Amino acid sequence: MKVKRIRGTRDFIAEEADFMRLIYNKCREVLNLYGYCEVITPVMEDQNLFVRTVGETTDIVEKEMFSFKLKSGETVALRPEGTAPVARAYVENSLYSLEPYSRLYYMGPMFRYERPQRGRYRQFHQVGAELIGPEDAYADAEVIKLALELLEVCGVDKCELQINSVGCKNCRPLYVHKLREFLETHAQEICEECVRRKDRNPMRALDCKKDRCRQIYENAPRTVDNLCHECLGHFEEVQKYLKSFHIKFTVNPMIVRGLDYYTRTAFEIIHTGLGAQNAVSAGGRYDGLIGDLGGPSIPGVGFAMGVERVMEISSLLKEKARDGTGVLVMEKRFVEHAVSLVNSLRSAGIRCVIDYRFGSMKSQMRRLDKENVRYVVILGEKEMAEGFYTVKDLLSGEQREIPHNEITEYVRRKK
Ligand code: HAM
Repeated sequence: MKVKRIRGTRDFIAEEADFMRLIYNKCREVLNLYGYCEVITPVMEDQNLFVRTVGETTDIVEKEMFSFKLKSGETVALRPEGTAPVARAYVENSLYSLEPYSRLYYMGPMFRYERPQRGRYRQFHQVGAELIGPEDAYADAEVIKLALELLEVCGVDKCELQINSVGCKNCRPLYVHKLREFLETHAQEICEECVRRKDRNPMRALDCKKDRCRQIYENAPRTVDNLCHECLGHFEEVQKYLKSFHIKFTVNPMIVRGLDYYTRTAFEIIHTGLGAQNAVSAGGRYDGLIGDLGGPSIPGVGFAMGVERVMEISSLLKEKARDGTGVLVMEKRFVEHAVSLVNSLRSAGIRCVIDYRFGSMKSQMRRLDKENVRYVVILGEKEMAEGFYTVKDLLSGEQREIPHNEITEYVRRKK
């Protein structure tokens, strides 16, 4: 029986795995520059964490969670996103009493039972950052700058930043009321799903992808026109600071985000090279989240970048550079010598591979070429008798005879 991988998941093999690691490493360097430290949370959480924070009536919780019941009766969910788990860890470990832990980042797999398509997977990876503590609009602008900088170091340019403000617990109820009234008057024209959203969570309707609904919602009340004095001031300041950072943006009142914990700033970074799933990074402010999870009332703002989407559009060199050596043994009786050569090269910190299938010079050379080595060290009758190795540089094609005792220095020097 052939067992296949689960729909919507991917294997990352060799260069692809290296590429993902490269992206993680590049991000890590920038996150360190901004003073963030890493947090690794479990991929499984109590399902209630997401129900209470992402929101009971969101698509993520209603339709997309991978959840299962344990023998103990508890319902566990594979994390669909990283903010709620970080907030849970922040509260559970009382990180609010430890000043340096207000800037946290994470990287790893997330799980959503969505319909798989280009750029949309059921297991995908995110690099995310959360700045917990400051309420000031400067924090929002810095987090957005960080999100853009991560994309830049990952070789993603020509991005478009779109921002919005979704208000706070004071001004949003009034806005939601207005929006519900608007949906009510269009109940005959909007899709069934949106009729349902109208009663349960009207703001979700604005996320509808159906052309007809989108057209109607162009005239829907907008959050930006219904902000309280404080939220409006905050939103204006975010824009002012973005401008002072020379960051280009557009205000898109349709950005409401598919997660309920957001307050005030919401943003998405779009890349046209991605097709329909064009958000490469997204985030916003969540001033009630820590308090809702039983912590003190501390605001926060953050974002997460989609690693698969970055990999699709990155200009970073995906091809692995030629590195190290391959040992080519012409006759099996020289294998003992070859193994000791391999071991001493590896001990000297030089990548070294040997293929124990032996075979013809041509076939071994072909295989070592595919291994991406820089040098092939050949051990044949003549080389063994006269105390040198024939070394072929696969980059330049040059071939030289190097005395046995000089081989490590030779390949190291030219590494
Ligand atoms: P999100 O918008 O749901 O936000 O996801 C962030 C990014 O993850 C998206 O812009 C996209 O690049 C990627 N992504 C999401 N779903 C998929 C999928 N099914 N397949 C591939 N990539 C995907 C959040 O997750 C928030 N926790 C972000 C945040 C952090 N807000 C505040 N702090």
